[in-house]
Amino acid sequence: MELASRITHITPSLTLSIDSKAKALRAQGVDVCSFAAGEPDFDTPEHIKAAAIKALENNFTRYTPVAGIPELREAISKKFLSENQLDYQPQDIIVSNGGKQSCFNAILACVGEGDEVIIPAPYWLSYPEMVRLAGAEPIIVPTTAANNWKITAEDFANAMSPRTKMIIINSPGNPTGAVYSKEELRAIAEVAADEEILILSDEIYESLIYDGLKHVSIASVTPEAHDLTITVSGFSKAYAMTGWRLGYLGAPKKIAQAIEALQSHSSSNACSFAQYGAVAALNSSQQCVADMREEFNIRREYMFERLSKMHQLSVIKPSGAFYMLTDISKLGMSSMNFADRLLSKSNVAVIPGIAFGNDKTIRLSYATSIDIIKEGLDRLENFCKTL
Ligand SMILES: Cc1ncc(COP(=O)(O)O)c(C=O)c1O
Repeated sequence: MELASRITHITPSLTLSIDSKAKALRAQGVDVCSFAAGEPDFDTPEHIKAAAIKALENNFTRYTPVAGIPELREAISKKFLSENQLDYQPQDIIVSNGGKQSCFNAILACVGEGDEVIIPAPYWLSYPEMVRLAGAEPIIVPTTAANNWKITAEDFANAMSPRTKMIIINSPGNPTGAVYSKEELRAIAEVAADEEILILSDEIYESLIYDGLKHVSIASVTPEAHDLTITVSGFSKAYAMTGWRLGYLGAPKKIAQAIEALQSHSSSNACSFAQYGAVAALNSSQQCVADMREEFNIRREYMFERLSKMHQLSVIKPSGAFYMLTDISKLGMSSMNFADRLLSKSNVAVIPGIAFGNDKTIRLSYATSIDIIKEGLDRLENFCKTL
């Protein structure tokens, strides 16, 4: 039996598989310190859970409109305006089963056979696979620690060809934690506007920014950028709601309508009662988000200080998300080899950078308790001394 060729070209998510491997070892009683997590370790705030429970008790258990309940699209529209200076009407907003589906919907609706999509590396590992599934070609543009893992307008222009249809910008970024400034985004947006290149802006980590920096949405930098951009965000990272599977996008009307039609034939609406939890998340105090950010920041400072002192490694301080991309090139081994040996010798799980298109790095997530971070870094330090 032959599988469809589109599926034979993709690889399963390495981050999810390493995270499950670490969880399975722990279930067997092995004392694993995992830096593999791609999700907050906090519980969903009570008021969000209470709103979903209430909706369930009220039997809000049937299909909803494909693009989401009106209250939620209204709340997202208001949030886009107040926090992102973006004018997306509720009908230009599509709620989906996670930011992941929002990204996939945007790619499927906008690119296809013969198109190229520019992806700065290190990248979130699903982007190239989504592009391939859509029949298009990912064009990977490496970035460097020297440039804080960011693509410049010049890199973007140089990577362009007559087939370029889209660029993906992810700020704050996974796995780099890179945060683009307004000026950097404006320069990229101007290059995109010159050639009418679409921009997929994945802003799922927008609430996790440190050092007093402010998140900027690329769609807000110029009117032309607004007309070319699909802005993706969601609830998973900001409100510790990964299992709820709720994300959304705002897009120019034509694209939003196409995505709504696409979703109507694939997953239909996101979970009905979960959508009421999302309404409560957006319409209530944002103190819970600030509290989680503060806790992440404490861990970020601690992890950065420790890693900076490990001389075989090198790291730049990330400004956002909850990852620390760490350079292992001084050790002269592949990222997979490093990650495998670290797990088997020291019971520490990290994600090899090869998963993100950079074999000279590993990704450590600090979305785990400070005690695990301390113990895991002690083990990492001892492991490096044995190399
Ligand atoms: C960069 C990025 N985008 C999107 C997502 C998807 O998030 P979700 O589908 O849980 O909303 C993730 C999750 O890890 C991510 O890291």
